[in-house]
Amino acid sequence: MTELAHGLLPIELMIDHAEVDSQHDEIFSRIEAMKESSLLSDAASHDDVASLITCFADHFATEERLAREAGIEFSAHVREHDQALRLLNKAFVDLGSGRLDLRTFLRYLEFWFEQHINEFDKPLGNRLSGRSSGARMRHGDSSSVGRGGFGLNA
Ligand SMILES: [Fe+2]
Repeated sequence: MTELAHGLLPIELMIDHAEVDSQHDEIFSRIEAMKESSLLSDAASHDDVASLITCFADHFATEERLAREAGIEFSAHVREHDQALRLLNKAFVDLGSGRLDLRTFLRYLEFWFEQHINEFDKPLGNRLSGRSSGARMRHGDSSSVGRGGFGLNA
């Protein structure tokens, strides 16, 4: 099992790919730190939110590279990433203008990320390792298209 720097990725969300699991752990760690600091101040740190979005973008690029290198058809997953980045950038603007509350954003983001890992990243991990994931893989690869988003009135 992968040794994780922050230990914040639950075992049930591990996809058994060291690089991806490590990045997931890093993102959960950043979200957790922002949740803790949001208890002290309602104001979202511009830099923290911007850095988190960059972290997501880099992470999505990693998964897309891994899929490309492995010759895995990944278009539905890429659309999910693209939609997430659009919504993250909209949330960034809304947080800055006060139309979106930081704690609400972080709760939705954590929920969305867990869903994304279960529905999209676990099937990717299975395919990268050559494991068969049956119905779950088919679900994540096609039937979830267009269902994503943070539920934040994008
Ligand atoms: Fe992903």
